[in-house]
Amino acid sequence: MPGASGWLEWVIVVVVARHAASRGGNLAIRRANEQRYFEADLRAAVGAAVAERASLRSAMLRAVFPVHRPRRLRVSPGIRGLVRETSLEPRDLVWPLFFSATLTEPRPVATMPGVSQLPVSHAARIARQATELGLGGVILFGLPEQKDARGSMACDPEGPVPRTIRAMKDAAPELVVMADVCVDEYTDHGHCGVLREGPRGPEVDNDATLEILSEAAVVYARSGADVVAPSDMMDGRVGAIRETLDDEGLEMTAILSYAVKYASAFYGPFREAADCAPKFGDRAGYQMDPGNGREALREARLDEEEGADMLMVKPGLPYLDVLARVRAATTLPLGVYNVSGEYAMLKAAVARGMLDERRSVLELLTSFRRAGADFILTYHAVDAARWLGA
Ligand code: PBG
Repeated sequence: MPGASGWLEWVIVVVVARHAASRGGNLAIRRANEQRYFEADLRAAVGAAVAERASLRSAMLRAVFPVHRPRRLRVSPGIRGLVRETSLEPRDLVWPLFFSATLTEPRPVATMPGVSQLPVSHAARIARQATELGLGGVILFGLPEQKDARGSMACDPEGPVPRTIRAMKDAAPELVVMADVCVDEYTDHGHCGVLREGPRGPEVDNDATLEILSEAAVVYARSGADVVAPSDMMDGRVGAIRETLDDEGLEMTAILSYAVKYASAFYGPFREAADCAPKFGDRAGYQMDPGNGREALREARLDEEEGADMLMVKPGLPYLDVLARVRAATTLPLGVYNVSGEYAMLKAAVARGMLDERRSVLELLTSFRRAGADFILTYHAVDAARWLGA
């Protein structure tokens, strides 16, 4: 069928042709008649074209609307459940925990309502709770007794993290225990590596830091961690850790790389929880620039090539686009860190009665799964697992 405007053109051509053919005879009368016929024909033609166009539109609409009604699949919880594209289960959630070498009682973190620093003596109970809730795992951060320039305590087999790992593995051998590998909780300056004097002042010495990270990873793996998770953003750390673990006969310990980690304001509340705020400067020299999306693919690819078993994007909410892009670029399992600032802002809104906590948390966690995350590190893990009816 010709398009409506093509049809209109054709009609006009016919009318003009008839007009030309009727030339000759009584000129004055004929002209007047011709003019009338011509105008009437033109009006009819335009009317027909408009009607044709309208009926075309309504035909097209009919083909879509009364036939297609997406609401049919939203009429009941059963149907919605049947066609839901994204699932969210307790096993998708990893619970971040802060264990202190010095505390004997939990100490609430002011910036993160509901989160506390914990004494190592609570490790077994927490591990059993995580198992009962069906969580995917826990990830451990340590608050040491002392800090120094190198962050040596990160490698102490009697530090809070190795002790917690052993206690958890005794109490709940099936629980997946991950250990965050980074020195910022252990350095007196709060940076994620060893410092040296650079051309622009003190800077984190990438290659010197690799040694201490590898050593810490070995200590956690020997203590029984299933997964070590470097969060420092040094170049080459996945390869260095893999090689050291393998040399130590720990080739079955998996590496979850914080491959795509941005220099984010949303870590603010965590820095109180883990007592790791840098004493000078910021982390922009090693963590990624928030404006960069393509670079995320490069970081992910490099860590994959170095031997990472799983990758992670961090933070979550402000980087869902990055999460989706990394998802499309790798076949490795992919995690996302729903970080402290995301948690704090939701909790603050809930505390003021501005948001419904349960609905907003579950929607938020679902958004990470929909964007492509296999698992989510989240401080909402326990509440969410309960709501999901573990
Ligand atoms: C570094 C580390 C940080 C977080 C996890 N690992 C802080 C940082 O990079 O400054 C942040 C997690 C959060 O904000 O919840 N060891």
